[in-house]
Amino acid sequence: MRIAVLASGVGSNLTTILEHAQSGRLSVEPCLALSNNPEAGALLQAAKFGVPVWSKSHVGLPREEYDAELLGALYAAKAEAVILAGYMRLLSKVFFNGFSGPILNLHPSLLPAFPGAGAPQQSFAYGERLVGCSVHFVEEVVDSGPLIIQAALPVDDDDTFETLMPKIRLLEHRIYPQAIQWLAQKRLAPDCRSGCHPEACRRIRLLPRSGPAVPAPQVELPFPYLVSPGLEDF
Ligand code: GRF
Repeated sequence: MRIAVLASGVGSNLTTILEHAQSGRLSVEPCLALSNNPEAGALLQAAKFGVPVWSKSHVGLPREEYDAELLGALYAAKAEAVILAGYMRLLSKVFFNGFSGPILNLHPSLLPAFPGAGAPQQSFAYGERLVGCSVHFVEEVVDSGPLIIQAALPVDDDDTFETLMPKIRLLEHRIYPQAIQWLAQKRLAPDCRSGCHPEACRRIRLLPRSGPAVPAPQVELPFPYLVSPGLEDF
């Protein structure tokens, strides 16, 4: 599966994805990294991995016009799926109408709590006792769309926002490649057991893996966490 990764910032998630792709653990071919921020660290990371990059500032351009250019780059790269990894722009109807493949997003909260920018700060300030991150299919409403995987960790009394953020980041680096691998394996399907229409289905079901079962990896993170569906040794 040819993936294009869109990022606006430092690109730690993009880097993790590219590392897994390069090592062969992830069954994807990163064909393009795109950014609306020509200064994004993510672009430097992509270049280090030899992944072609496309960048253009969105400043002063109507959203639709900008997205039409993004689409042009995706078509030229023959991208089959779009992976949003800290892409800090809303996508327009033009984009959704023009790209027919799956689009995934990673969000640093347990959605549907705290959509939008500043989610970890908001969930900490709110006093949530469990924080975490979510990967979901992208729909037009920001940070909505059917959930694929979520990971949660407890907030200790001595935690501060600064102590929590690196933990959330470590979980992001675990769950995003996993979700992408499930997508590449075509194992994410609408679960319409309650009679809904597949197009309107909110619930995603992980189909069993073909071939021999692979035991879940013993991932040692220096804090307790819960993830669903369970991680595999992809
Ligand atoms: C992550 O926290 C992700 O959840 C959010 O943007 C951030 C990107 O971080 N969508 P990085 O650039 O991958 O380090």
